[in-house]
Amino acid sequence: MDLEKLRGGQGQALYRRGKTLIPGGTQLLSKRPEMFLPDYWPAYFRKAQGITVEDLDGNRFRDMGYHGIGACVLGYAHPAVDAAVKAAIDCGVASTLNAWEEVALAERLVALHPWADMVRYAKGGGEMLAIAIRIARAAAGRDLVAMCGYHGWHDWYLAANLRDDADALKDHLLPGLDPLGVPSGLRGTVLPFGYNRLDELRALAAEHGARLAAIVIEPVRSEMPAPGFLEEVRAIADRLGAVLIFDEVTAGFRMNVGGVHMTLGVTPDLAIFAKALGNGYPVAALIGRRAVMEVAQETFISSTAWTERTGFAAALATLDILEKENVPAHLNAMGERVRTAWQAAADAAGVPIRIRGLPPLSTFAFEGDDPRLLKTCFVQLMLEADFLATQAFYATAAHTGRDVDDYAAALYAAFRRIAEARDGPGLSSLPRGPLAHAGFARLA
Ligand SMILES: Cc1ncc(COP(=O)(O)O)c(C=O)c1O
Repeated sequence: MDLEKLRGGQGQALYRRGKTLIPGGTQLLSKRPEMFLPDYWPAYFRKAQGITVEDLDGNRFRDMGYHGIGACVLGYAHPAVDAAVKAAIDCGVASTLNAWEEVALAERLVALHPWADMVRYAKGGGEMLAIAIRIARAAAGRDLVAMCGYHGWHDWYLAANLRDDADALKDHLLPGLDPLGVPSGLRGTVLPFGYNRLDELRALAAEHGARLAAIVIEPVRSEMPAPGFLEEVRAIADRLGAVLIFDEVTAGFRMNVGGVHMTLGVTPDLAIFAKALGNGYPVAALIGRRAVMEVAQETFISSTAWTERTGFAAALATLDILEKENVPAHLNAMGERVRTAWQAAADAAGVPIRIRGLPPLSTFAFEGDDPRLLKTCFVQLMLEADFLATQAFYATAAHTGRDVDDYAAALYAAFRRIAEARDGPGLSSLPRGPLAHAGFARLA
């Protein structure tokens, strides 16, 4: 791909216009072109199918990166999911009555998770988390939440940064998130602890235990739980009478057909799914134990868009395919192959990297001095080779061994070019434009 064509293409032109109309440019930070390759990233898609994404100028790329930021576990525009959605559309997506599929989906989700009895829905992961927190606070009759990891954009979560020492979220999501607009009255209501840091959770429990409504955690993300960690989190929640919430928004439906906690053998009181559940169609689900979920009858949680039909239809079809085709086994196999390719390419070029995450949600970090510069070089070189890529690989059912082989060949070349630049004219000779952003920042 001639990158100058992308710079002068319709995607970048539209994005410049988009930024004047949409503050921050996009609705999801992780889809901002600046997070990949400022001034060059194709920005918008006309069509996406399988792992192929076509931009507004008809340029085609294979997606070996975040793949819809984890939303499309079966690949883009999966024919069976789309057929189910089209059939639902033909019957009407909304009426004064409810979509029958919401009960069918609830039956499926509780059958997959025998510890759970009841289900509520929303459209996005973050709002589903906010609902879970409301239910947990109502059920426990307490306010405080201990949390670890990323859980969305809502006030309850960003309140963690309403502290004098600020930046509590820097190890959980992003550094420098200003809790601007979050009511100062929420100060002290959210208490972060580190993953695998039982000492930190125990200290919170000792100081605030009697006021703790919930403990919220991704059961696993970039590192595996230390032996006994999740079991002890469960035990602490039980001892304190706090609701244990597992956020499965990204981890769910990758290691098995259901929550990753089923693989890890620890059950929560509430668990949240989104992303993969609808293969790109918006649907989020909260599953939970009856005693906690019933409280949703007493606290007002209600929205028109949560009743819309296509998300339920997409989720039912997605579950069918995940099960019938044993998709999690394929995701793991693809993830392992990509990890092997990353390590081999990095070793061959002498560019140190560190690989993390579950195989279907693999990431790597450059270990050099200037990770942003290295990331920019990598994304640019892979884009030149017609891949949408970054320091992550989210596997889908649509990725084949052939895709991984082609990607591996491009990886070798990219790492070699990085090493040559580093050892020759310097890494900063490689980027054609500004450096990729590393996190949340105001756009110029
Ligand atoms: C673990 C986790 N929780 C919550 C969210 C927020 O979900 P959404 O972007 O659907 O609001 C995300 C999104 O990446 C996530 O990874």
